[in-house]
Parts: sequence; C-alpha cells; structure tokens
Amino acid sequence: AQTVTRDADGVVTVGGIDVNRLAEEFGTPAYVLDEADFRARARAWRTAFGTDADVFYAGKAFLSRAVVRWLNEEGLNLDVCSGGELTTALSAGMPAERIAFHGNNKSVAEITRAIEAGVGRIVLDSFQEIARVAHIAQSLGTRQKVQIRITVGVEAHTHEFIATAHEDQKFGIPLAGGQAAEAVWRALQLDGLELIGIHSHIGSQIFDMSGFEVAAHRVVGLLKEIRDEHGVELPEIDLGGGLGIAYTGDDDPREPHEIAKALTEIVGRECEAARLRTPRISVEPGRAIVGPTAFTLYEVGTVKPLEGLRTYVSVDGGMSDNIRTALYDAEYSVALVSRTSDAEPMLARVVGKHCESGDIVVRDAFLPADLAPGDLLAVPATGAYCRSMASNYNHVLRPPVVAVRDGEARAVVRRETEEDLLRLDVG
Ligand code: LLP
Repeated sequence: AQTVTRDADGVVTVGGIDVNRLAEEFGTPAYVLDEADFRARARAWRTAFGTDADVFYAGKAFLSRAVVRWLNEEGLNLDVCSGGELTTALSAGMPAERIAFHGNNKSVAEITRAIEAGVGRIVLDSFQEIARVAHIAQSLGTRQKVQIRITVGVEAHTHEFIATAHEDQKFGIPLAGGQAAEAVWRALQLDGLELIGIHSHIGSQIFDMSGFEVAAHRVVGLLKEIRDEHGVELPEIDLGGGLGIAYTGDDDPREPHEIAKALTEIVGRECEAARLRTPRISVEPGRAIVGPTAFTLYEVGTVKPLEGLRTYVSVDGGMSDNIRTALYDAEYSVALVSRTSDAEPMLARVVGKHCESGDIVVRDAFLPADLAPGDLLAVPATGAYCRSMASNYNHVLRPPVVAVRDGEARAVVRRETEEDLLRLDVG
C-alpha cells in the first residue's frame, strides 16, 4: 500500500512528506496519491501477465496526464470510455494503438475521432454500434480492429449498481438466445471491421474468482461456436476488470500474480478442451491499481456529539469528493493523522459540508474523543472512483490530486477555483 508511516510523535508521513505540510501547502480537502505505489501496482500487473497478455488500465477509475505518462512508462495499455478520456490519453502521449475505446453509447464524433487517431481497438456494445463503427471506418477508408462485448449471464457477487454480466442491464450483447453469435457473424461480414476478439466484464469490487471462471468458460464456448460455424478462430479475449481491493480491514484481495495465474489457467484449460488455439488475454483493472494508492485528507470543521447516538464530525468536503458511501453504501476507514491522541475512542460519523443528510463519508468509525476543529483526518483507499466521480454539488470546488514521491509533492490535478466555476457560467 501507500508508503504511509507514523513517527513517535504521531506525525504521519506519506511518500516521505508530513501530512501537516501537505495540508499547509495544498489545502484541504486533497487527494494524496503515492506515485511510487501507483507505479509498483501497475508494474505488478504488467509483470504478472507477462508478454503473452495485455493489461489495460481502466481510466474511468482515475485519469490524469501524469497517470497516463506513468502507465506508458510502466508498459500498460489504457481503456478509455469517452471522448474526454481519449483526449487526455492522447494529449499525454499514450500511443493510440495501445488505447481501447469502450462505452455503450459512443457518439459518431467520438467514434470518428478514435478511428482517425488510430486506437488499437473499439469495443462494440450493440448491433447498431457494429453497423455504425463499420460505416464510419469504411467511410474513412480504413478497417477498425474491434472486440464485441457480450454478457455471459453471470451474477457477480457485488453491489447491484456495479454488477454488469447479468442479462437485464444496458451493457453488452447477451450470449443467450444466440444474440452474441449473431453479432459476431454480422461483424465478420463488414469490410470496415476487423473482429479481433470477444470482451466480457462481469462487474466491480469482486473477490471471488468463480465469476471469472464461468465467464471464461462461456466466452471460450462462443469462440468454439464461431470456429465451428464460420471457420474463424478469433485471436483475443478480454476478461475486463473488477478485481476488488480492501477498503476496510475486512477484505482480502488477491495479488496480481495469483489473478494472472488463475485467469491464464482457466482460459488455457477451456481452450484445450475445445481444441482451440489459446487466444491472447487482456484484462482491464482500474480500482485494483489506483484505489489503494491515494487517501483523502480532510480538515475537521465541527464536532457535534448527539447524546446516546454518536458524534457527527464534519469535514471540509463530502459527497462531492466521494459519492461512493452515499451511492453504494461503501465502507471506508478514517484516522486522525495530524497528531496522536490518548483520548478514549468515540463512535463517530464523518460527514461532509453538503446540504443533504445522506452526505456521509464514513458511516461508522471510532475516533479519539478529544477530536477538535483543525484536526486532520485521512480516509484511505480513495484513489479509484472518487476524483473521477467528483461533482460541484452546492458549488463546492473539486479538490486537487497531489502526487507525492521521494519527499516531494506536486499537484497533478490542481484545486478547482471559483473562477473555474464562473468561467462555465456564461449567462
Ligand atoms: N472494464 C470495463 C468494461 C468496465 O466497465 C470497468 C468498470 C472496468 C474495466 C474497471 O473496473 P475496476 O477494475 O475498476 O473495478 N463507480 C463504481 C465502479 C463502476 C465501474 C464501471 N466499470 C465504483 O465506484 O465502485
């Protein structure tokens, strides 16, 4: 995890820097991201999958130009799912052929831009998109490499809003009823497309590998069907992202090399049984790479004990910088990091500054009873889907992302200002 240490005086340092100094220099709230940890995780994934497989970092978890450069240097590819993410990736020098473009409703403008840029693959999500991308590629005089995203009908054990492989949802083309096979057949007919593989993403924050096992089995089953019916062996399969991380002490995530070994074995075994050449595997971890690498640093503003209930601790951010607690009932931990305290623990709820009672950052936590305005709190594991899902609700300004490394800190995404807000307001 992050290189966070606490010295005898209780001073917490990250990447060699005192958090009090970070708060002084960059203000609060701030996401503090450990560059060495990010690079180490990216490298671990890359190394675990070796040269026979590709790792596409899922940019939706958190994307900035610095992150794109780190990924590029560490040999990872990138999955983008909007024109904005594509622009960020290209502007930071990610080679287009190492970019995969996702989404269930890419616009014509986005598709055109992606093809013109030369992205390595577009993942097709519907029959209409198969026709649309083929048409655009052909009119640009090119053949676009594509994968088709299918839903394999697996119930991943995770929150309903982030599970994606059951059939009754918006992503992908169902395997059921021969729809995915039909989609493949159509894509194979179209001159504008070079169908390179099948894609499956079963959901997020998953710990149990059995969902991937079933998905691999069904994807390979489709490859076999395609071979048997059309005489074509597709060279690639992508098993998506979704590997879980520890938000509190209770979860026990798998290491990248275990995941790589498991997935490679499953696919190898299934292909052998089907007498298929083993396709090149790719995966798309987002959270598992960036999630643990950052914490959010907040300053306590008020402490309100409610007799017989709990103490409400208000911090200077909230659901605008971390919507996950309100949206998914996500669990986080929190610690006092600006000093030590020998005070008794009290049951606290860490809440934000927004005009909404659901504005909760950490639902239940024990914090020292002498907690006071001005204390700094850190909420770990906020690297994924926090800054990337941040909003301006109540016209609150989005926090910066501060990267620390070897005793140095710099903002890689600066704090939003009131001028930024007013600049958009052109009425
Ligand atoms: N590939 C595809 C096609 C995806 O849709 C996603 C996530 C990923 C990869 C990366 O999944 P990861 O490894 O990061 O779990 N906002 C939610 C998560 C939504 C994920 C959407 N797609 C959250 O805060 O938990």
